[in-house]
Amino acid sequence: MTRPIPELPDTIRPVRWQDDHLVLLDQRRLPDESIDLHLTDVVATGQAIRDMVVRGAPAIGITAAYGMVLAARRRYQVDAGGWLAALVGDGRQLAAARPTAVNLAWAVERLLATARGVAAGADPVPVLLAEADRILAEDIAANRTMARLGAALLGQGVRILTHCNAGALATGGIGTALGVVRQAQVEGRLAKVYAGETRPWLQGARLTAWELLRDGIPVTLVAEGAAAWLMAQGHVDWVIVGADRVAANGDVANKIGTYSLAVLARQHGVRTMVVAPTSTLDRSLAAGAQIPIESRAAEEVLDCGGRRLAAAGASAWNPVFDVTPAALVDALVTEKGVCQPPSPAALAALGAR
Ligand code: MRU
Repeated sequence: MTRPIPELPDTIRPVRWQDDHLVLLDQRRLPDESIDLHLTDVVATGQAIRDMVVRGAPAIGITAAYGMVLAARRRYQVDAGGWLAALVGDGRQLAAARPTAVNLAWAVERLLATARGVAAGADPVPVLLAEADRILAEDIAANRTMARLGAALLGQGVRILTHCNAGALATGGIGTALGVVRQAQVEGRLAKVYAGETRPWLQGARLTAWELLRDGIPVTLVAEGAAAWLMAQGHVDWVIVGADRVAANGDVANKIGTYSLAVLARQHGVRTMVVAPTSTLDRSLAAGAQIPIESRAAEEVLDCGGRRLAAAGASAWNPVFDVTPAALVDALVTEKGVCQPPSPAALAALGAR
């Protein structure tokens, strides 16, 4: 007799539309406190993305979609005939908030395409809001499909090492990498989850640990420098991560440190899975070398928890993403199918945008 699989926990919504405005869970305050920010204009939305109130490629894209609704409302109120040209400018500003996560520019472009289809003189807000809601709903559905496809690749008693936060806080639904973790848990396949703490923003220690524990999934944190030794001890079967942008050849930009994990995994016979919706694929870029890599302030490395820890006078280099060559990725899981391994042909066959 087959045991029914329990429902996946899906209760965290970091981005939502409430009445007439956008609400973001302020991820800078987690895990200490859950505080919502209420946003009514697109400039504040772009600032919230830059400041890491919301982060994670799909969540940034969903936020940008609602930000475009706020922009359209303001522009239409000011000039019911000429709002579209102004909205294009707002979209350009918003898309520049963070350069690596392609979901941001993708969502802005999708809202602009919808805006161009609005009849002359008509109020664009209802139609744009419906499109933003659709982007959120599609992401929730994609998360669930990827969770099933990814978990099907895992054996029994699997031990997973994840990096950064690629969970509910980074998406519309149950997460990309953490969606697979949640699915493995409900299917009874999961033995252990390790999470890298992810300096300098500590998304692993603060966010991944918070949301897994909230769902009753035990998590063991490791400093990034411990990953090689953890693998050498034979404690990891799969490295499972999300992505901020995947080039047409399958090269993957993700949180700084992902490339190191993929190199280590190959050295130790551990497999690497990248879980990303097709909204994260960028077919306009042939290879990962063309992906823009965001650099952030040196203070993020020099300080910790708002306090200067580095020796006075030290400088810091702070690229916040790196590119993992497709050759180091064993499986790329999307909602449209799995590329094992990712290659230009395999990605093209997904039939994505
Ligand atoms: O700088 P962040 O926190 O936005 O970086 C997020 C990541 O790198 C995630 O791993 C990635 O966006 C995948 S999210 C499902």
